[in-house]
Amino acid sequence: MSKTFYITTPIYYVNDVPHIGHAYTTLACDVMARYKRSRGFEVAFLTGTDEHGQKVETAAKANGETPLELADRVVKRFQALWEKLNCSHTDFIRTTQERHKHTVSEQFKTILDKGDIYLGEYEDWYCTPCETFWTETQLIDGNCPDCGRETTKLKEESYFFKMSKYQNQLLKHIEENPDFIQPKTRRNEILSFVKEGLRDLSISRTSFSWGIPVPGNDKHVLYVWFDALTNYISALGYPEDQEGKFEKFWPAVHVIGKDILRFHAVYWPTFLMAAGVPLPKRVVAHGWWTVEGQKMSKSLRNVVEPNMLVDKYGVDAIRYFLLREVPFGLDGDFSHNSLIHRINSDLANDLGNLVSRSTAMLDKYFNGELPKTGSLSDIDQSLIDCFPAALQKVDELLEEMAFNKALMAIWELISAGNKYIDDTAPWALAKDPEQQERLGTVMYTLLEAIRIIGLLVAPFMPETAAKIMQILGCDSDNLNLEGQDQWGGLQPGTQIEKASPLFPRIETE
Ligand code: MSP
Repeated sequence: MSKTFYITTPIYYVNDVPHIGHAYTTLACDVMARYKRSRGFEVAFLTGTDEHGQKVETAAKANGETPLELADRVVKRFQALWEKLNCSHTDFIRTTQERHKHTVSEQFKTILDKGDIYLGEYEDWYCTPCETFWTETQLIDGNCPDCGRETTKLKEESYFFKMSKYQNQLLKHIEENPDFIQPKTRRNEILSFVKEGLRDLSISRTSFSWGIPVPGNDKHVLYVWFDALTNYISALGYPEDQEGKFEKFWPAVHVIGKDILRFHAVYWPTFLMAAGVPLPKRVVAHGWWTVEGQKMSKSLRNVVEPNMLVDKYGVDAIRYFLLREVPFGLDGDFSHNSLIHRINSDLANDLGNLVSRSTAMLDKYFNGELPKTGSLSDIDQSLIDCFPAALQKVDELLEEMAFNKALMAIWELISAGNKYIDDTAPWALAKDPEQQERLGTVMYTLLEAIRIIGLLVAPFMPETAAKIMQILGCDSDNLNLEGQDQWGGLQPGTQIEKASPLFPRIETE
């Protein structure tokens, strides 16, 4: 049986335009998807848009368009951005698609038939921007405890999901599966939330109409989160599973921001338990980005637009920066200075220089033709020996989604490569005809190191990796580690290009 891997981003609300926060979640998933493919997995990578709910209805009205017109317009911006960022998703789901609406209705019916959904009456404080009901005691000065905005008291007939019934089963699952919720600190928050007691959850609304109607009672539309969370299985064709995708790929790894962890680690698993569906493999919550120390918001006019960044600095530099700058799981701050600093030091100086110095020397001393290795000295051997350990470390770190640490481990190899040049001083060897074989060994060792480094950076910087493979005369369409991560892949005699700088330095005023 082939190895499979299923990873998902949250589906993005269409009442906002994409910014670096959204790009971050999607890029983290893309790196995982590319890495797993590189390790021989068949990968399903899902992203999409969350198009129902009161917020979208209200935003559309304010624009003088229908909710679907608004969604059609904004969805294009998300799709164009993912293309520009080189995201390798295999499916894009919209909650307005028939396939999704079908799965959601089926899911509702299954849980209703089981007796875990009942009709009741709801009265509580509702925060419209967050689409969340709060109890009196949860409010802070009468306002929403999440966003601080005004809440209104709402009373309406509503379908309820018996979430309380699944409290113990969920607790047991979280306790028995320490990796189910990551990182640990967030897992503890969820554990204490569940221990405080789960209330039954209102899962339908009568106060607006832009949503999926409740099967058999179209006075009600389904609560956006019941609708939205189901995307992860509707995209696989659940429940009929005519193409066998659900069987093949479920359960998923869900990557989300910390703000929506409760929905994914409490609501979603209990819905699945009620429907008799296995739970997700993992729910991984990352932190939030601020911008130059401040919360990103439209009113502060500080929303960082990824398109502009890519045009200015290049796609791989942005991909690298977002995953290198902040440990996954923690909050981070975006600033132009730190971005430029990373580009100039890590990309231009360390990686870029390693490639350009090495290929320039090969060009100068061997007309670009890769020599054979002679006998290895200790200094060669110790560089070569760094690789198996580093490969294993990067594998382990990426399994944990410790992207920044994985990049640090790769950068240790890059530094070792640059140091190797300084220690072996090829320019001195080149002066002595008797050292020709030694010079050949040094050149081979360097370029082979670059080949493996190129494969290692590929999930993060696919364009750069392809460029490196092309320079080395390797197949730039095959960036897989699997089958290519053993020392000695480069063939002596290969013609290698003299590389132009991979990352030009950014001059600052
Ligand atoms: N539609 C829901 C998700 C439904 S999933 C079944 C939603 N959408 S969202 O567009 O508001 O947010 C999507 C993702 O973007 C979330 O994971 C959120 O954490 C992330 N981010 C939004 N702003 C962010 C930052 N400033 N920084 C990092 N990530 C942020 O929630």
